Amino acid sequence: MKTPPLCAGLVLAFALSALAANSTVGPVADLASPAASTDSSAPSAESPAARDARMAWWREARFGMFIHWGVYSVPAGTYQGKQIPSIGEWIMLNAKIPVADYAGFAKEFNPVKFDAEAWVRLARDAGMKYIVITAKHHDGFAMFHTAVDGFNIFDATPFKRDPLKELAAACQKYGVKLGFYYSQDQDWHHPGGVALKGGHWDKAAQDGDFASYVHNVALPQVRELLTHYGPVSVLWWDTPTPEMTPELARELAGALKLQPGIIQNNRLIPTASQGTEFKGDTETPEQRIPATGYPAGRDWETCMTINGTWGYKSYDTNFKTTEKLLQNLIDIASKGGNYLLNVGPTSEGVIPEPEVERLRAMGAWLKVNGAAIYGTTASPFPKLPAWGRATKKLTATGATLYLHVFTWPTDGKLAVPGLRNAITSATLLATGAQLATEKTADGLTVTLPATAPDPISSTVVLELKGAPEVDAPLATAVAPAAP
Ligand code: GLC
Repeated sequence: MKTPPLCAGLVLAFALSALAANSTVGPVADLASPAASTDSSAPSAESPAARDARMAWWREARFGMFIHWGVYSVPAGTYQGKQIPSIGEWIMLNAKIPVADYAGFAKEFNPVKFDAEAWVRLARDAGMKYIVITAKHHDGFAMFHTAVDGFNIFDATPFKRDPLKELAAACQKYGVKLGFYYSQDQDWHHPGGVALKGGHWDKAAQDGDFASYVHNVALPQVRELLTHYGPVSVLWWDTPTPEMTPELARELAGALKLQPGIIQNNRLIPTASQGTEFKGDTETPEQRIPATGYPAGRDWETCMTINGTWGYKSYDTNFKTTEKLLQNLIDIASKGGNYLLNVGPTSEGVIPEPEVERLRAMGAWLKVNGAAIYGTTASPFPKLPAWGRATKKLTATGATLYLHVFTWPTDGKLAVPGLRNAITSATLLATGAQLATEKTADGLTVTLPATAPDPISSTVVLELKGAPEVDAPLATAVAPAAP
């Protein structure tokens, strides 16, 4: 499948479509298997083996927490008594709030209930292995104590704390990787920063030179983030625009040398026109799960809202069900990708309870079924029957195949079409119960107990002799062509 170029228009379209429901779990077809990497993204001299080593924790992780938290959680979707449509963190642009007025929200931002350790424990207990938090979003407000200017959570609010420092310490304590989101192009507060969708609306405050903005704001802040917060595992750029020249992008990417081993996404500069230099380490499909994953060797991460907004909106209760979220995670893993699932804390520093509930339920499922997600690679099947998804792990002597059964067969017979390997063991992951298997002309049938161990997805574990051998696309599933 071809990666969509991240041009400004598309980015904008992504942003505008964020309120739309995310894609449904699509059919598994033509799954790409993420074999050993052959591409060489920056740094360009990196060998494939060094790249694999750098990406190893991320590929193992499969599940991360995105946190969109900023001063936009104060208006929380409402300005001057009007509910402002679209995503919460875009309220300043969507309502065309003058720069000075928006800055006034900082005085009301006092997240006294913020507890970095509780957030990181929540992520850990949800089975998430990393967090990526908005260090500065498009509104230009720094969620850390920057020396660049006073428009930050330490200097401009009554809170007088640096939540990123506290999160960094908590991540260290609980062994969760820390990543920073940084809006390097759009900045609606600092002169010269870009505003998509119509450009600057408060020209006196916003007009200016983009290169000066990068040199005076973005670059020094990125350097601060990569210097003062201990190990930083991910730099998550956003909304690349044509203003970003290769020269400026090179300066920003150069700052990443401060954190050897860091992983960056593909949103530093519109990549279509730039060849491979800036393609970054990861593709970032937003609010959707690519039907067939990405070609072998290309790492990718679906980022998705848990309701309809990234930044908190007090009246967005459009939460996805736990079933949907879990099946998304499984679907993504079955295609070789990661799931970066967003939470939107309030201006008090609280992750809303419906989000917490869902994350806890996902964590409970992962406690039982985590072996079928972490460290797995994409399904070996070109296609799967409608009952669910598959993931795999290659072992020294063969492979472990995990069958994620969403729809439990009423006749107790799970058909695994196209699988040709000898099976050395078949068990239910939840109970360890041994299962009978039988070779058929079509592949394999596994006999299951009458009831599923889990109402959302139960895992059957097959130990295979040798690497997975599966038939080419299942012609049997398709009606024969007319003569
Ligand atoms: C979009 C939006 C942004 C959000 C991001 C998350 O690009 O502009 O608000 O942070 O998506 O992927």
